[in-house]
Amino acid sequence: MSRFRMPAAVAALGAGLLFTCVPAASAQSAAPLRALADRAHVRIGTAVDMTALADDSTYRATTGREFSSVTAENVMKWEAVEPQRGAYDWTKADALVRFARQHGQAVRGHTLVWHNQLPGWLTSGVADGSIGAAELRGILRRHIIAEVGHFKGRIHQWDVVNEVFDDDGSPRDSIWLRTLGPSYIADAFRWAHAADPGAKLFLNDYNVEGVNAKSTAYYELARTLRAQGVAVQGFGVQGHLGIQYGFPGDVAGNLARFEELGMETAFTEVDVRMVLPADAAKRATQAAYFRGLLDACLATRHCTSFTVWGYTDRYSWVPGVFTGQGAATLLDEDFTPKPAYAAVRDGLAAGRRAVSGA
Ligand code: XIL
Repeated sequence: MSRFRMPAAVAALGAGLLFTCVPAASAQSAAPLRALADRAHVRIGTAVDMTALADDSTYRATTGREFSSVTAENVMKWEAVEPQRGAYDWTKADALVRFARQHGQAVRGHTLVWHNQLPGWLTSGVADGSIGAAELRGILRRHIIAEVGHFKGRIHQWDVVNEVFDDDGSPRDSIWLRTLGPSYIADAFRWAHAADPGAKLFLNDYNVEGVNAKSTAYYELARTLRAQGVAVQGFGVQGHLGIQYGFPGDVAGNLARFEELGMETAFTEVDVRMVLPADAAKRATQAAYFRGLLDACLATRHCTSFTVWGYTDRYSWVPGVFTGQGAATLLDEDFTPKPAYAAVRDGLAAGRRAVSGA
């Protein structure tokens, strides 16, 4: 039985109390998301754009007020932290960790091994053959140990490998797979664990919300690595949805099977885009999709954080990458809450009443 499930009599009592003691909806809607999330035993997180955090006081205040977890949208990626070989630049990442400490927020580390946003010296060295397999393995090892070591004790969940499978469940082609073979994944987890044994180490990808070929590839990978004693401790579901594609099937069931392996789960990058222009019907569907992912998290005992990939359309990555699409976040460009914000707020306020899973 879950620690969040109450006996029926207590639940009925709670329902009675709801009518007598709980503040009216208007008062409750003034509570920031993080206060509601605390009561639901989940972290509510956002990706943070460090340029906006430096320049925009509304963004800074909202980020601090609403969220209990932050993820660097870009500044912990390899191209940002080691732009020249051997010359690390932690300035912006350190600023985020400092902001988080000042606001009582957890930090998700994103990301150690990826095929995108690699420094030019690395990709060109591999491409022209001047960096061979043995050297590349050493470079990856140093990178992981340097970055995880730099933030030791200050990152609660690391996305160790990001997007390492294709949608059909086959290993994604990358400089890592091509040069080092599939063992780079276990190596990355071993190095990260050695550098900070206290951090929870995650796999992370998109299109793995439901049970499908790709999420099953992750399930098999996690099962195999854990059987070998590798510290693969979390499964991160990015949650980049678009309303034109429909809502993924059996999200809670997917999370539950990872938890049965003894892992944590998390939504790590949720946004729900739409073909522009937005209208009321699309916004309502979007709200239902946010709520659907959140409810799956809250229905899963060890789903520990629900992170959105930016919370205002003003700074969302979506329009720049998905032509003709956008309006993917909880607040519009003027920070006005959309139905999706109310849906997340109401879902957090409803809490973990119907918990199932491992
Ligand atoms: C995106 C950022 O939001 C953009 O600012 C950047 O230009 C590209 O990367 N999956 C991930 C994230 O794991 O790191 C990506 O972030 C979005 C998709």
